[in-house]
Amino acid sequence: MKITKICCIGAGYVGGPTMAVIAQRCPDVRVTVVDVNVERIAAWNSENVDNIPIYEPGLGEVVKEARGRNLFFSTEIEKAIDEAQVIFISVNTPTKTYGKGKGMAADLKFIELCARQIAITAKDNKIVVEKSTLPVRTAEAIKSILSNTGNGVQFQILSNPEFLAEGTAVQDLLCPDRILIGGDSSAEGKKAIQSLVDSYAKWVPIDRILTTNVWSSELSKLTANAFLAQRISSINAMSELCEKTGADVNEVAKAIGMDSRIGSKFLKASVGFGGSCFQKDILNLVYIAKSYGLTEVADYWEQVIIMNDHQKRRFSSNIVKTLYNTVSDKKIAFLGWAFKKDTNDTRESAAIYVANDLINEQALIAVYDPKVLRNKILSDLDTLETRSSDANASNILSFDNPYDACKDAHAIAILTEWDEFAEYDWQRIFDSMKRPSFIFDGRNILCGPKLESIGFHYQPIGS
Ligand SMILES: NC(=O)c1ccc[n+]([C@@H]2O[C@H](COP(=O)([O-])OP(=O)(O)OC[C@H]3O[C@@H](n4cnc5c(N)ncnc54)[C@H](O)[C@@H]3O)[C@@H](O)[C@H]2O)c1
Repeated sequence: MKITKICCIGAGYVGGPTMAVIAQRCPDVRVTVVDVNVERIAAWNSENVDNIPIYEPGLGEVVKEARGRNLFFSTEIEKAIDEAQVIFISVNTPTKTYGKGKGMAADLKFIELCARQIAITAKDNKIVVEKSTLPVRTAEAIKSILSNTGNGVQFQILSNPEFLAEGTAVQDLLCPDRILIGGDSSAEGKKAIQSLVDSYAKWVPIDRILTTNVWSSELSKLTANAFLAQRISSINAMSELCEKTGADVNEVAKAIGMDSRIGSKFLKASVGFGGSCFQKDILNLVYIAKSYGLTEVADYWEQVIIMNDHQKRRFSSNIVKTLYNTVSDKKIAFLGWAFKKDTNDTRESAAIYVANDLINEQALIAVYDPKVLRNKILSDLDTLETRSSDANASNILSFDNPYDACKDAHAIAILTEWDEFAEYDWQRIFDSMKRPSFIFDGRNILCGPKLESIGFHYQPIGS
């Protein structure tokens, strides 16, 4: 079957960019992205592409080219399901906040709602593609819901996890390391897999398109995120040892990264990983392992999270300790709030936890982030439910430029690795600050010797 009509449920960080690139690369395929969030869809339809809801380098141009031609954003979910041959499910799968598995398992209620909606809406055979990251064997539950409709419609379930990284999503989608498609080994299953392979093959070299069984595909996504996060926790664990021994973690990382068996990527010490995926996916992996009684496997992966939490707490305690054991009423400037550079996504950003710790110590936090506004910062802190919204609001200042954020501050904390931070007039910033002036570089992106020559006390991670 040649795919000409696609629907994607979920217009978020994955659904939006993924479908925009599919539409750009396959002009003969009509792609409709739907969402229950009316404001988000309206933002995707903004005339000025600078106002689309997700910031990703290059995304505006892709949307501009395809939107209105063969790419559509809509809230008419039933209509889009009805018309499509292939339905991607790209909704969020957060960590459960209630009931069995609370704080660990993936909450699949949005996935199930999608499956039920597809089941009652579809009038002809469909391919349903899991794009969201899901626990291994979720396709079984989706299949059960879809095959009990009694209306004779046949569904094929494929797993096609997304490996894009925020901040480089468009590039990752245009030139993926691999596309993974898991499906049934029946004749119908193989046909469904082939249809999706043919679609991707329009721009992805065929040797980069892997096909597997559904369970391998589902589990590969969790495994990939667990391995990536594990590398960060591994180098962060070494960063603390470096601080005690006089070794320099950047030098250690370079030395080990040149070993071709290890490789150089994901070896940068930092205040800890954030983002919506790593923590939730590892917790989910730990939960799955526990549910099969695999205690050692669960404990092994849980340590990655424990190390990450430790690194965030260690960073805030170091600030307090260095500032003479009190930050009460001191202004601490935060450069960066997003969980990484080139995104406006703040989910699970280390900045939230560091700010929370410092506000507990009665510090005043002055934030500048190139893409994150005050309301988002406050709502991030409110989700921790540590104190009232009013109390958060009175301890957070936000600025639209770094110079005002840093004026009269006792210290600066770098929480995101935005490139522009290295380009600032650091002498001007130093001149406007309290003495002594400290920089805690949670991303190790600034040049220590240069800052020290100005007069800053510079503290990177791991040396
Ligand atoms: N963000 C990433 O970098 C990334 C990368 C790879 C995979 N993933 C996975 O992709 C999935 C989506 O992640 P995201 O970051 O795009 O999430 P997101 O929260 O940005 O977007 C999800 C969207 O789904 C919508 N939605 C939820 N239920 C719906 C329903 N029943 N009908 C219609 N719309 C509905 C929400 O309104 C929201 O806009 C998750 O499983 C995540 O783990 C994310």
